[in-house]
Amino acid sequence: MDIGKSSFVVVANRLPVDRVTPRDGPTSWRRSPGGLVTALAPVMRSFDGAWVGWTGSRDDAPAPFSTDEMDLIAVPLSAEEIALYYEGFSNATLWPLYHDVIVAPEYHREWWEAYRRVNERFARAAADVADHGAIVFVQDYQLQLVPNILRQLRPDLKIGFFLHIPFPPGELFAQLPWRRQILEGLLGADLVGFQREGAADNFIGLAERYTDATAGDRQVVTADGRTVLARSFPISIDVSEITQLVSDPDVQARSDRIRSEVGSPKHILLGVDRLDYTKGIGHRLKAFDELLAGADVTPDEAVMVQVATPSRERVEAYQTLRDDIELQVGRMNGEYGTIGQPAVHYLHSSYERAELVSLLRAADVMVVTPLRDGMNLVAKEYVAARTDLGGALVLSEFAGAADELSDGAFLVNPHDIDGLKRALLAAMRLDAAEATQRMKLLRERVLGNDITRWAQNFLDTLRAV
Ligand code: ADP
Ligand code: G6P
Repeated sequence: MDIGKSSFVVVANRLPVDRVTPRDGPTSWRRSPGGLVTALAPVMRSFDGAWVGWTGSRDDAPAPFSTDEMDLIAVPLSAEEIALYYEGFSNATLWPLYHDVIVAPEYHREWWEAYRRVNERFARAAADVADHGAIVFVQDYQLQLVPNILRQLRPDLKIGFFLHIPFPPGELFAQLPWRRQILEGLLGADLVGFQREGAADNFIGLAERYTDATAGDRQVVTADGRTVLARSFPISIDVSEITQLVSDPDVQARSDRIRSEVGSPKHILLGVDRLDYTKGIGHRLKAFDELLAGADVTPDEAVMVQVATPSRERVEAYQTLRDDIELQVGRMNGEYGTIGQPAVHYLHSSYERAELVSLLRAADVMVVTPLRDGMNLVAKEYVAARTDLGGALVLSEFAGAADELSDGAFLVNPHDIDGLKRALLAAMRLDAAEATQRMKLLRERVLGNDITRWAQNFLDTLRAV
């Protein structure tokens, strides 16, 4: 298919769709995992642009193709590059470093070299597809060198960058042997966006400390005299997508069936996360375990449903986490479960949107307890799904979403297990009037800043640079 030049180009490590190759049968495409795709796919549909990214399979370079009102341009990665650039530098160096070193980051020169090489490939692919003067919107920690490489290749472009995950304070970022190169890579953009104010401040301070740039008020001036804006743009969700699904009678019927299938308890507690050590899944299981052990609630009254999407399964820390969580779930079910009635329904799988929304609608208490999270879109999806003004949200103060949702949510420090237990109990015992009141506050915030508004804010600011 002939794909022309685009005036709007998104560059992300992953395409919005992932190739699925079953052992027997034809290949197909499914939605890629994670919040980045949830947020950006609807934006792209309304812009009719091009998306540059990897298909999720090795050495996969299909010709450019169109789907869902956008052009998809695949960037191939070899098996070695997947190991060094994706599993290595992106997800065993940067991911843990940027998430408060919950797991120790590893620093390997070979991984860095692959990261540099692959970032260059993405930048070239974007340069090839971008029209003269186009907007190129680069995404996330896997591609922090792309803005600067792209600027060298194509000085005519407007370049925006958005970091979906936290940007760490100097005490942590300083560990990175390639800290100057990463900062210079980002400074190639005209606008660098973060989830929280504090992250933008971290970036501005570090750019001044480790590069030749000078810092100003919410901006940095580079050595060659360019001004780079650094601002926070808290990302959001496509509220209309969720609202439509919630109003679907099949989704409502499925939601009711889920409740009866888990034994029609008084309280359904729900967690929905990629199986990632940043998400605090073990902490919430421990709190629930102690509530059952102390008979604060009985297994008849309350069940937990934990959806844990498989993620980064070849990275060692993720394998260890899976073993730990599954051991914990197994122990709890052995202790408190009965035939046909486990205490924790653990689902290690990825689901269609309709099924996910049915689950959100069935949950009395949504439990979102990351130890660190850029935003956490699941919290916002839960709020969007509660058009009935029911349910309660328990939310970690270490998720970006806490900045906006502190009024209606039960905020917790997930490391404080007693505090977490108290919040879970309070959420379960909430009377209907207060629940409605809290949900109204939450919905005002989520509906007032949905993904369309976010994209508009970011792109208007970028155009005005
Ligand atoms: P992260 O980006 O770290 O994965 P977010 O909470 O910001 O975390 O975004 C996760 C996205 O993935 C949400 O849109 C959520 O609905 C979706 N998701 C999470 N678990 C599943 C699953 N098991 N099946 C399908 N989608 C899922
Ligand atoms: C988070 C990151 C994204 C990433 C997603 C899924 O949302 O911010 O950049 O795509 O997780 O992770 P994966 O490694 O499967 O792409």
